[in-house]
This record gives sequence, C-alpha cells and structure tokens, in this order.
Amino acid sequence: TDLKPIGNKLLKWYEKNARDLPFRQTKDPYKIWICEIVFQQTRINQGLGHYTNFIERFPDVKTLAEADENEVLLYWKGLGYYSRAINVHKAAQQIMNDYDGIFPHEYEEILKLKGVGKYTAAAVSSICFNGRVPAVDGNFYRVLSRIFADDFDISNSKAFNYFSELAHLILPENVGDFNQAMMDLGSEICKPKNTLCGECPLNQDCIAFLTNKVYEFPVKTKK
Ligand code: ADE
Repeated sequence: TDLKPIGNKLLKWYEKNARDLPFRQTKDPYKIWICEIVFQQTRINQGLGHYTNFIERFPDVKTLAEADENEVLLYWKGLGYYSRAINVHKAAQQIMNDYDGIFPHEYEEILKLKGVGKYTAAAVSSICFNGRVPAVDGNFYRVLSRIFADDFDISNSKAFNYFSELAHLILPENVGDFNQAMMDLGSEICKPKNTLCGECPLNQDCIAFLTNKVYEFPVKTKK
C-alpha cells in the first residue's frame, strides 16, 4: 500500500499547527545546529532563554570558534550536560579549520563535527539543505511504532536503522518540515502518557489507536 499520504497529512497539520519557535524563522545551519544540540536534551520552555542569549553572544561559527571556552560554558550554565558546550565550541573551530568557516552541507560531513550524532546531522541536513534524512529520535520511535503497531524493541541496537527505514516509507518531499512536524506531534499529541489521539491528524492511519493499544507502544525491554 501507498503510505505517502501519511507523511503529507502530517505536513498539512504542521502548516497550521507548527509551534512558533524563534529558530523556525531561519535556515542558517549554525543556528539550527545550536538549537538541535540545546533542545534534544532540554525542554523548549526551559532552554529558549539560553538559546536566545547564546545566539546573541555567539551569532556565527567564527564568533563561537574564537571565544574563550569558559565564556561558552558560562552561557551554557543552567542547561546541564556541559560536554555539549565544549563540543559545540570545538566543532566551531573544526568548521573554521577544515571547512574554511563554511558550515558543511552534506549529512556525512555534518556527522563528522564534534558532538554531532545521527539525529542532529539529519535535522540540520534536512532543515537547511533539503537532505532526505529522517531525524530519528525517541519521538520517531513512539509515533512510528504506534502508527504501525510495530513491536520492534527500541532498546535493540538495530532500532535506529529499523525505524529509519519505516520513516522512509512515509517521507514526503519536504523532509525538514516533516522532521519538525514529528517533533511537534511527539511532544504535543503523541506523548508517552496522556496522548491527545482525538486531535491527532494521523489517528485514522494509526493501527495502535484504531485497536486501542496506544500505550502498548513503543516496546522497550531494557532500560
Ligand atoms: N526539539 C529539537 N529540535 C526541535 C525543533 N527543530 N523543533 C521542535 N522541537 C525540537
């Protein structure tokens, strides 16, 4: 069956319901990179002030690369996971040294930056450069496992590849918006608990919802 309508329905929903976030007004890879690093581990409400201050003080790769590490850490204060701050500082220097200060455009190159994993590389690549890569994270596992009522164990080391392939089945043209729509759907509707299935644009496509098994997914055997 053709599953592409699912991705397109999600995009339609996103056009009307996207959260109005400051980093959504830009395709500057530097800003998107920083926002993905901050907001993968910190809630939006909690980190938005830090993000705005950080971008004001370090508006581009060069400014960040030339800054003192202690000052970078100072701007990260309160966000936790300080290795993230040290890594973005080092990665900025890497971009200056290895890429003439131009943020790399290719997924595989973005992935080489210090502290950048597959999720972040996919987000930057798709949002800024139209890369066709799903930004698979916990939201993706939850949403996809429910839509397909798929019991693949998300603690399995193959889960990332498995759900990446599932995502490709519904991937629309605009992958950057699709990825951000999945983030919004996962955090506001298809939540771990207290889902809002009645408001979900995909409820008629969601096998878990249609069979009343939403909370049975995703399956996770190990902590
Ligand atoms: N969390 C991390 N990155 C995000 C983004 N681009 N939009 C919404 N939530 C996010």
